[in-house]
Amino acid sequence: MQGQADLTAIATIELATIFGSFFLYPARHLLLKGDEPVTIGSRALEILIALTERAGELVTKDELISRAWPGATVEESNLRAQIALLRKVLGDDHAAARYIAAVPSRGYRFIAPLSRAQGDTATTVTAAPNNLPRLLTQPIGREQAIRVVEGRFQRFRLVTIVGPGGIGKTTVGLSVAERLASSYEHGLCFLDLAPISNPQALPFMLASQLRLNDTSHDPTMHLGAHLRDKRMLLVFDSCELVLDGAARLAETLLREAPEIGIVATSREALRVEGESVYRLPSLDMPPPAAGLTAADALEFPAIRLFVERAISFQGCRSIRQQPQAWPRPRTPAPSALRHRRRSDRRADRDR
Ligand SMILES: Nc1ncnc2c1ncn2[C@@H]1O[C@H](COP(=O)(O)OP(=O)(O)OP(=O)(O)O)[C@@H](O)[C@H]1O
Ligand SMILES: [Mg+2]
Repeated sequence: MQGQADLTAIATIELATIFGSFFLYPARHLLLKGDEPVTIGSRALEILIALTERAGELVTKDELISRAWPGATVEESNLRAQIALLRKVLGDDHAAARYIAAVPSRGYRFIAPLSRAQGDTATTVTAAPNNLPRLLTQPIGREQAIRVVEGRFQRFRLVTIVGPGGIGKTTVGLSVAERLASSYEHGLCFLDLAPISNPQALPFMLASQLRLNDTSHDPTMHLGAHLRDKRMLLVFDSCELVLDGAARLAETLLREAPEIGIVATSREALRVEGESVYRLPSLDMPPPAAGLTAADALEFPAIRLFVERAISFQGCRSIRQQPQAWPRPRTPAPSALRHRRRSDRRADRDR
Protein backbone atom coordinates (compact mmCIF):
# COMPACT_ATOMS: atom_id res chain seq x y z
CA MET A 1 0.00 0.00 0.00
CA GLN A 2 1.14 3.51 -0.75
CA GLY A 3 2.71 5.09 2.35
CA GLN A 4 1.57 8.36 3.81
CA ALA A 5 4.83 10.09 2.91
CA ASP A 6 4.60 8.95 -0.70
CA LEU A 7 1.02 10.09 -1.02
CA THR A 8 2.07 13.45 0.39
CA ALA A 9 4.85 13.72 -2.15
CA ILE A 10 2.52 12.88 -5.03
CA ALA A 11 -0.05 15.47 -4.08
CA THR A 12 2.70 18.02 -3.44
CA ILE A 13 4.48 17.70 -6.72
CA GLU A 14 1.86 17.60 -9.42
CA LEU A 15 -1.71 17.04 -10.44
CA ALA A 16 -3.08 13.92 -11.97
CA THR A 17 -4.36 13.05 -15.40
CA ILE A 18 -7.39 10.93 -14.53
CA PHE A 19 -9.06 8.27 -16.69
CA GLY A 20 -11.19 5.33 -15.57
CA SER A 21 -9.84 4.44 -12.15
CA PHE A 22 -6.29 5.48 -13.11
CA PHE A 23 -4.33 8.51 -11.92
CA LEU A 24 -1.30 9.36 -14.03
CA TYR A 25 1.43 11.68 -12.73
CA PRO A 26 3.63 12.32 -15.80
CA ALA A 27 6.46 14.26 -14.16
CA ARG A 28 6.84 11.62 -11.46
CA HIS A 29 6.51 8.81 -13.96
CA LEU A 30 3.88 7.29 -11.74
CA LEU A 31 0.62 5.52 -12.47
CA LEU A 32 -1.88 4.71 -9.71
CA LYS A 33 -4.93 2.52 -10.01
CA GLY A 34 -7.28 3.95 -7.40
CA ASP A 35 -4.67 4.58 -4.74
CA GLU A 36 -2.34 1.68 -5.56
CA PRO A 37 0.80 2.18 -7.67
CA VAL A 38 0.81 0.17 -10.89
CA THR A 39 3.93 -1.72 -11.88
CA ILE A 40 4.77 -0.64 -15.39
CA GLY A 41 7.99 -0.29 -17.38
CA SER A 42 9.30 3.16 -18.20
CA ARG A 43 8.88 2.81 -21.97
CA ALA A 44 5.25 1.72 -21.69
CA LEU A 45 4.64 4.56 -19.25
CA GLU A 46 6.28 7.08 -21.59
CA ILE A 47 4.02 5.86 -24.40
CA LEU A 48 0.99 6.25 -22.15
CA ILE A 49 2.05 9.79 -21.24
CA ALA A 50 2.56 10.66 -24.91
CA LEU A 51 -0.88 9.31 -25.80
CA THR A 52 -2.72 11.05 -22.95
CA GLU A 53 -0.97 14.35 -23.68
CA ARG A 54 -2.75 14.32 -27.02
CA ALA A 55 -5.87 12.39 -26.02
CA GLY A 56 -8.25 11.87 -28.93
CA GLU A 57 -5.56 12.59 -31.54
CA LEU A 58 -3.56 10.21 -33.65
CA VAL A 59 -0.01 9.81 -32.33
CA THR A 60 2.12 8.25 -35.04
CA LYS A 61 4.33 5.21 -34.57
CA ASP A 62 7.43 7.32 -35.23
CA GLU A 63 6.42 9.85 -32.60
CA LEU A 64 5.84 7.11 -30.04
CA ILE A 65 9.11 5.38 -30.86
CA SER A 66 11.08 8.58 -30.48
CA ARG A 67 9.40 9.23 -27.11
CA ALA A 68 10.04 5.75 -25.74
CA TRP A 69 13.49 5.17 -27.31
CA PRO A 70 14.91 8.69 -27.74
CA GLY A 71 17.76 8.83 -30.24
CA ALA A 72 17.61 5.09 -31.01
CA THR A 73 16.45 3.23 -34.10
CA VAL A 74 14.14 0.39 -33.14
CA GLU A 75 11.87 -2.02 -34.93
CA GLU A 76 8.14 -1.38 -34.96
CA SER A 77 7.64 -4.73 -33.26
CA ASN A 78 9.15 -3.22 -30.09
CA LEU A 79 6.46 -0.56 -30.08
CA ARG A 80 3.77 -3.19 -30.60
CA ALA A 81 5.13 -5.17 -27.66
CA GLN A 82 5.06 -2.09 -25.40
CA ILE A 83 1.50 -1.26 -26.48
CA ALA A 84 0.45 -4.84 -25.70
CA LEU A 85 2.04 -4.50 -22.26
CA LEU A 86 0.32 -1.22 -21.66
CA ARG A 87 -3.06 -2.62 -22.65
CA LYS A 88 -2.53 -5.51 -20.27
CA VAL A 89 -1.74 -3.17 -17.39
CA LEU A 90 -4.79 -1.01 -18.15
CA GLY A 91 -7.04 -4.05 -18.59
CA ASP A 92 -7.67 -2.90 -22.15
CA ASP A 93 -8.73 -5.11 -24.99
CA HIS A 94 -7.27 -4.97 -28.49
CA ALA A 95 -10.60 -6.02 -30.04
CA ALA A 96 -12.83 -3.67 -28.04
CA ALA A 97 -10.46 -0.94 -26.90
CA ARG A 98 -11.52 1.39 -24.11
CA TYR A 99 -8.26 3.30 -23.72
CA ILE A 100 -5.88 2.77 -26.62
CA ALA A 101 -7.13 2.30 -30.15
CA ALA A 102 -4.86 1.32 -33.02
CA VAL A 103 -5.03 3.38 -36.20
CA PRO A 104 -3.96 0.77 -38.78
CA SER A 105 -0.53 1.38 -40.32
CA ARG A 106 -0.28 4.81 -38.73
CA GLY A 107 -0.21 4.80 -34.95
CA TYR A 108 -2.39 4.91 -31.88
CA ARG A 109 -5.00 7.09 -30.28
CA PHE A 110 -6.02 7.49 -26.61
CA ILE A 111 -9.81 7.26 -26.72
CA ALA A 112 -11.09 7.29 -23.12
CA PRO A 113 -12.46 10.49 -21.60
CA LEU A 114 -9.95 11.99 -19.22
CA SER A 115 -9.82 14.94 -16.91
CA ARG A 116 -6.60 16.77 -16.55
CA ALA A 117 -5.58 19.36 -13.99
CA GLN A 118 -4.19 22.53 -15.50
CA GLY A 119 -0.47 23.22 -15.33
CA ASP A 120 2.61 21.03 -14.97
CA THR A 121 3.42 21.55 -11.35
CA ALA A 122 1.29 22.38 -8.39
CA THR A 123 0.80 25.97 -7.46
CA THR A 124 -1.74 27.51 -5.18
CA VAL A 125 -4.65 28.64 -7.24
CA THR A 126 -6.17 32.04 -6.85
CA ALA A 127 -8.91 31.88 -9.51
CA ALA A 128 -12.19 30.24 -8.49
CA PRO A 129 -12.07 26.61 -9.60
CA ASN A 130 -15.05 24.73 -10.95
CA ASN A 131 -14.49 21.17 -12.10
CA LEU A 132 -18.14 20.13 -11.91
CA PRO A 133 -18.96 17.59 -14.65
CA ARG A 134 -21.66 18.93 -16.95
CA LEU A 135 -24.98 17.09 -17.06
CA LEU A 136 -25.69 16.21 -20.68
CA THR A 137 -29.46 16.45 -20.30
CA GLN A 138 -31.89 18.09 -17.90
CA PRO A 139 -32.87 15.70 -15.09
CA ILE A 140 -36.40 14.36 -15.52
CA GLY A 141 -38.86 14.67 -12.63
CA ARG A 142 -36.33 15.89 -10.08
CA GLU A 143 -37.28 19.55 -9.77
CA GLN A 144 -38.72 19.15 -6.29
CA ALA A 145 -35.79 17.08 -4.98
CA ILE A 146 -33.32 19.62 -6.35
CA ARG A 147 -35.25 22.49 -4.79
CA VAL A 148 -35.48 20.77 -1.40
CA VAL A 149 -31.78 19.94 -1.27
CA GLU A 150 -30.84 23.43 -2.46
CA GLY A 151 -33.10 24.94 0.20
CA ARG A 152 -31.48 22.93 2.96
CA PHE A 153 -28.26 24.88 2.40
CA GLN A 154 -29.94 27.82 4.05
CA ARG A 155 -29.75 25.93 7.35
CA PHE A 156 -27.11 23.25 6.83
CA ARG A 157 -23.61 23.17 5.39
CA LEU A 158 -23.52 19.45 4.65
CA VAL A 159 -26.38 17.78 2.82
CA THR A 160 -26.03 14.11 1.93
CA ILE A 161 -28.22 12.72 -0.83
CA VAL A 162 -28.83 9.11 0.11
CA GLY A 163 -30.37 6.30 -1.93
CA PRO A 164 -29.77 2.97 -3.62
CA GLY A 165 -27.43 2.58 -6.58
CA GLY A 166 -28.56 4.22 -9.80
CA ILE A 167 -31.54 6.07 -8.34
CA GLY A 168 -30.16 9.43 -9.44
CA LYS A 169 -28.10 10.76 -6.50
CA THR A 170 -25.25 12.11 -8.63
CA THR A 171 -27.68 13.62 -11.12
CA VAL A 172 -29.48 15.51 -8.34
CA GLY A 173 -26.22 16.39 -6.56
CA LEU A 174 -24.73 17.94 -9.71
CA SER A 175 -27.92 19.89 -10.41
CA VAL A 176 -27.96 21.25 -6.87
CA ALA A 177 -24.29 22.23 -7.09
CA GLU A 178 -24.91 24.02 -10.40
CA ARG A 179 -27.73 26.01 -8.82
CA LEU A 180 -25.67 26.89 -5.76
CA ALA A 181 -22.55 27.83 -7.71
CA SER A 182 -23.24 31.56 -7.74
CA SER A 183 -23.42 31.58 -3.91
CA TYR A 184 -19.86 30.29 -3.57
CA GLU A 185 -17.51 32.99 -4.73
CA HIS A 186 -14.40 30.81 -4.38
CA GLY A 187 -15.77 28.12 -6.64
CA LEU A 188 -16.76 24.48 -6.69
CA CYS A 189 -14.67 21.39 -6.27
CA PHE A 190 -16.05 18.02 -7.37
CA LEU A 191 -14.47 14.79 -6.11
CA ASP A 192 -15.50 11.44 -7.56
CA LEU A 193 -14.72 9.03 -4.74
CA ALA A 194 -15.89 5.89 -6.58
CA PRO A 195 -12.40 4.85 -7.73
CA ILE A 196 -10.88 5.25 -4.25
CA SER A 197 -10.60 2.43 -1.76
CA ASN A 198 -8.11 3.92 0.70
CA PRO A 199 -9.86 6.58 2.82
CA GLN A 200 -6.46 8.14 3.57
CA ALA A 201 -6.21 9.18 -0.06
CA LEU A 202 -9.18 11.57 0.17
CA PRO A 203 -7.43 14.61 1.65
CA PHE A 204 -4.58 14.17 -0.84
CA MET A 205 -7.05 13.97 -3.68
CA LEU A 206 -8.77 17.16 -2.55
CA ALA A 207 -5.42 18.92 -2.03
CA SER A 208 -4.42 17.88 -5.53
CA GLN A 209 -7.66 19.22 -7.00
CA LEU A 210 -7.19 22.49 -5.15
CA ARG A 211 -3.58 22.56 -6.36
CA LEU A 212 -2.12 23.04 -2.91
CA ASN A 213 1.65 22.86 -3.04
CA ASP A 214 2.42 22.41 0.63
CA THR A 215 0.80 19.26 1.92
CA SER A 216 3.88 17.82 3.55
CA HIS A 217 2.46 17.22 7.03
CA ASP A 218 -1.25 16.78 7.48
CA PRO A 219 -3.18 17.58 4.32
CA THR A 220 -6.47 17.69 6.20
CA MET A 221 -5.28 20.47 8.47
CA HIS A 222 -3.64 22.20 5.54
CA LEU A 223 -6.92 22.00 3.64
CA GLY A 224 -8.75 23.39 6.65
CA ALA A 225 -6.36 26.33 6.79
CA HIS A 226 -6.58 26.89 3.03
CA LEU A 227 -10.39 26.86 3.05
CA ARG A 228 -10.79 28.83 6.30
CA ASP A 229 -11.58 32.15 4.65
CA LYS A 230 -13.15 30.72 1.50
CA ARG A 231 -16.73 30.35 0.37
CA MET A 232 -16.40 27.17 -1.61
CA LEU A 233 -18.77 24.30 -2.36
CA LEU A 234 -17.31 20.80 -2.26
CA VAL A 235 -19.08 17.89 -3.89
CA PHE A 236 -18.14 14.47 -2.51
CA ASP A 237 -19.69 12.01 -4.96
CA SER A 238 -20.08 8.29 -4.11
CA CYS A 239 -18.93 8.34 -0.50
CA GLU A 240 -20.19 4.85 0.31
CA LEU A 241 -16.97 2.96 -0.29
CA VAL A 242 -14.86 5.32 1.81
CA LEU A 243 -17.57 6.39 4.21
CA ASP A 244 -15.38 6.87 7.29
CA GLY A 245 -12.74 8.81 5.40
CA ALA A 246 -15.35 11.05 3.78
CA ALA A 247 -17.06 11.60 7.14
CA ARG A 248 -13.77 12.49 8.88
CA LEU A 249 -12.73 14.89 6.14
CA ALA A 250 -16.16 16.53 5.96
CA GLU A 251 -16.36 16.96 9.73
CA THR A 252 -12.90 18.51 10.00
CA LEU A 253 -13.38 20.84 7.06
CA LEU A 254 -16.79 22.02 8.26
CA ARG A 255 -15.25 22.81 11.64
CA GLU A 256 -12.12 24.50 10.26
CA ALA A 257 -13.72 26.35 7.36
CA PRO A 258 -16.96 28.04 8.43
CA GLU A 259 -17.95 29.29 4.97
CA ILE A 260 -17.73 26.09 2.95
CA GLY A 261 -20.64 23.86 1.99
CA ILE A 262 -20.58 20.17 1.08
CA VAL A 263 -22.99 18.24 -1.15
CA ALA A 264 -22.38 14.53 -0.61
CA THR A 265 -23.92 11.58 -2.44
CA SER A 266 -23.82 8.18 -0.85
CA ARG A 267 -25.73 4.95 -0.42
CA GLU A 268 -25.43 5.54 3.34
CA ALA A 269 -25.45 8.70 5.45
CA LEU A 270 -22.07 10.02 6.64
CA ARG A 271 -23.41 10.37 10.19
CA VAL A 272 -21.47 13.48 11.12
CA GLU A 273 -22.57 16.37 13.24
CA GLY A 274 -24.51 18.98 11.31
CA GLU A 275 -25.35 16.64 8.41
CA SER A 276 -28.76 16.88 6.79
CA VAL A 277 -29.72 13.62 5.11
CA TYR A 278 -31.99 13.76 2.08
CA ARG A 279 -33.35 10.35 1.09
CA LEU A 280 -33.93 10.52 -2.64
CA PRO A 281 -37.27 8.92 -3.53
CA SER A 282 -37.84 6.86 -6.67
CA LEU A 283 -39.23 8.72 -9.65
CA ASP A 284 -43.04 8.80 -9.77
CA MET A 285 -44.65 5.71 -11.30
CA PRO A 286 -48.20 5.16 -12.58
CA PRO A 287 -50.60 3.57 -10.06
CA PRO A 288 -50.69 -0.24 -10.41
CA ALA A 289 -54.32 -0.53 -11.57
CA ALA A 290 -54.30 2.12 -14.26
CA GLY A 291 -55.01 1.13 -17.87
CA LEU A 292 -53.10 4.08 -19.18
CA THR A 293 -52.49 5.18 -22.71
CA ALA A 294 -48.89 5.71 -23.70
CA ALA A 295 -49.48 9.47 -23.61
CA ASP A 296 -50.82 9.26 -20.03
CA ALA A 297 -47.97 7.03 -18.96
CA LEU A 298 -45.44 9.51 -20.31
CA GLU A 299 -46.69 12.03 -17.75
CA PHE A 300 -44.87 9.95 -15.12
CA PRO A 301 -41.15 10.76 -14.84
CA ALA A 302 -40.09 7.12 -14.32
CA ILE A 303 -41.79 6.14 -17.57
CA ARG A 304 -40.48 9.21 -19.39
CA LEU A 305 -36.91 8.44 -18.37
CA PHE A 306 -37.36 4.78 -19.28
CA VAL A 307 -38.70 5.68 -22.72
CA GLU A 308 -35.97 8.25 -23.35
CA ARG A 309 -33.34 5.69 -22.47
CA ALA A 310 -35.03 3.03 -24.59
CA ILE A 311 -35.09 5.42 -27.52
CA SER A 312 -31.48 6.38 -27.17
CA PHE A 313 -30.31 2.79 -26.65
CA GLN A 314 -32.50 0.97 -29.13
CA GLY A 315 -33.72 3.63 -31.55
CA CYS A 316 -37.33 2.45 -30.98
CA ARG A 317 -38.87 5.82 -31.78
CA SER A 318 -42.28 4.40 -32.65
CA ILE A 319 -42.95 3.84 -28.94
CA ARG A 320 -43.92 7.51 -28.66
CA GLN A 321 -46.67 7.20 -31.25
CA GLN A 322 -48.53 4.16 -29.92
CA PRO A 323 -51.93 5.17 -28.51
CA GLN A 324 -52.84 1.77 -27.04
CA ALA A 325 -52.96 0.93 -23.37
CA TRP A 326 -49.61 1.02 -21.61
CA PRO A 327 -48.71 -2.36 -20.16
CA ARG A 328 -48.29 -2.36 -16.41
CA PRO A 329 -44.60 -2.84 -15.62
CA ARG A 330 -43.87 -5.99 -13.67
CA THR A 331 -40.82 -4.50 -11.98
CA PRO A 332 -40.29 -0.85 -11.03
CA ALA A 333 -39.06 0.99 -14.08
CA PRO A 334 -36.18 2.78 -12.35
CA SER A 335 -34.33 -0.48 -11.81
CA ALA A 336 -34.30 -0.93 -15.56
CA LEU A 337 -32.74 2.50 -15.90
CA ARG A 338 -29.74 1.87 -13.74
CA HIS A 339 -26.81 2.56 -15.94
CA ARG A 340 -23.65 0.58 -15.65
CA ARG A 341 -21.14 3.41 -15.63
CA ARG A 342 -20.40 3.38 -11.92
CA SER A 343 -20.64 -0.33 -11.46
CA ASP A 344 -18.36 -0.72 -14.46
CA ARG A 345 -15.84 1.49 -12.78
CA ARG A 346 -16.15 -0.42 -9.54
CA ALA A 347 -15.67 -3.63 -11.45
CA ASP A 348 -12.63 -2.08 -13.16
CA ARG A 349 -11.18 -1.17 -9.84
CA ASP A 350 -11.75 -4.59 -8.33
CA ARG A 351 -10.42 -6.35 -11.40
N1 LIG B 1 -33.98 12.22 -13.19
C1 LIG B 1 -33.16 11.81 -14.16
N2 LIG B 1 -33.23 12.33 -15.39
C2 LIG B 1 -32.42 11.91 -16.37
N3 LIG B 1 -31.49 10.97 -16.22
C3 LIG B 1 -31.37 10.42 -15.00
C4 LIG B 1 -32.20 10.81 -13.91
N4 LIG B 1 -31.86 10.08 -12.84
C5 LIG B 1 -30.87 9.28 -13.22
N5 LIG B 1 -30.58 9.48 -14.52
C6 LIG B 1 -29.58 8.77 -15.28
O1 LIG B 1 -29.50 7.47 -14.72
C7 LIG B 1 -28.16 7.09 -14.52
C8 LIG B 1 -27.92 6.85 -13.03
O2 LIG B 1 -28.03 8.08 -12.35
P1 LIG B 1 -26.97 8.55 -11.25
O3 LIG B 1 -25.57 8.27 -11.69
O4 LIG B 1 -27.30 9.95 -10.91
O5 LIG B 1 -27.34 7.55 -10.08
P2 LIG B 1 -26.64 7.35 -8.67
O6 LIG B 1 -27.69 7.16 -7.67
O7 LIG B 1 -25.65 8.44 -8.44
O8 LIG B 1 -25.88 5.98 -8.94
P3 LIG B 1 -24.67 5.36 -8.07
O9 LIG B 1 -25.22 4.89 -6.77
O10 LIG B 1 -24.19 4.22 -8.95
O11 LIG B 1 -23.63 6.44 -7.90
C9 LIG B 1 -27.31 8.18 -15.13
O12 LIG B 1 -27.01 7.84 -16.46
C10 LIG B 1 -28.19 9.40 -15.11
O13 LIG B 1 -27.86 10.29 -16.14
MG1 LIG C 1 -23.67 8.43 -8.12
